[in-house]
Amino acid sequence: RIEAVDGALTAALRAGLERVERELRSSLTDPDDPFLSAAAVHLIDAGGKRLRPLIVLLGAEFGDPRRPGVVQAGVLVELVHVASLYHDDVMDEAPVRHGVSSANKRWNNSVAVLVGDFLLARAAEIGVGLGDETMRMQAQAINRLVRGQILETVGPGEGDTVAHCIEVMRDKSAALLALAARLGGVVGGAPPEVCQALATTGEQLGIAFQISDDLIDILTASPASGKTPGTDLRQGVLTIPVLYAMQGEGPGPRRLREILAAGPVTDDALVAEALELLRGSEGLERAAADVTAYADRARQALSLLPAIPARQALEELCDYIVSRDR
Ligand code: FPP
Ligand code: MG
Ligand code: MG
Repeated sequence: RIEAVDGALTAALRAGLERVERELRSSLTDPDDPFLSAAAVHLIDAGGKRLRPLIVLLGAEFGDPRRPGVVQAGVLVELVHVASLYHDDVMDEAPVRHGVSSANKRWNNSVAVLVGDFLLARAAEIGVGLGDETMRMQAQAINRLVRGQILETVGPGEGDTVAHCIEVMRDKSAALLALAARLGGVVGGAPPEVCQALATTGEQLGIAFQISDDLIDILTASPASGKTPGTDLRQGVLTIPVLYAMQGEGPGPRRLREILAAGPVTDDALVAEALELLRGSEGLERAAADVTAYADRARQALSLLPAIPARQALEELCDYIVSRDR
């Protein structure tokens, strides 16, 4: 739950989110297959903000939110998201997700990969029920997710590291928020120009969200986010604030470049030193300015939409991303 926008939610939206929650579980539970069912609901039970289903439901408010398929669309987008997390944790060899053991740790890589595939297949079944246009949008978004993950794996090469990082974010994170927002509009029956503005909102919000995540990884002193600060550094992931900080002049940036040149930072003292250097660097302000700029672009797209309460909730989501610290 995102408390910041909770106040802006109507009883109907809350009820919609509760239905998404129930249908998420029922879509994955098969009494004949208790092992697969348990492994499939593992990361659903672990938590998550349900940001994507919320965006679907808010998008549908620009049409008729009572249309059949709106809740299913919320389930679909969350299934794709959680599927990508099962796979991501294998690729990142991550032991923890949402404060519990990742599926690869709890079981093994094979189980995690197959369960991710299972969620993706369930999402496809729902997509078929929602029609060709949904299926096409869903397939295109998944293409972008894969492309983003590949781009991240291949790395920037000799190219511009910041531009590369933004491109990765667009595909691996923003594409799914764009799908959520657009799909909400489409299943709600909103006009095409509204669906387009919703997609733009989702896309820009997605990048803002990812950069704010990167800032939290540096700034959060206590692991209130369910994550440990410096995780990206330990994994050798150079995020936007880190890339900006490395571009600076003087002894701080020089030392930072030295620490990070060797790849993933495994030594605790070096992680602490790098975090200290980052916290005192210009990289933080530049990245925070980027979060504000992308959130502003999302707001700009929203300004094209009718001024209904859902628009206000989406605007509050923009504010939340700019101000959140966990
Ligand atoms: C988390 O990023 C991962 C993603 C946002 C996307 C992962 C995409 C794939 C695995 C490809 C598509 C796969 C499917 C099944 C659709 P992160 O590792 O930077 O962040 P986190 O681990 O800290 O959440
Ligand atoms: Mg990861
Ligand atoms: Mg990853």
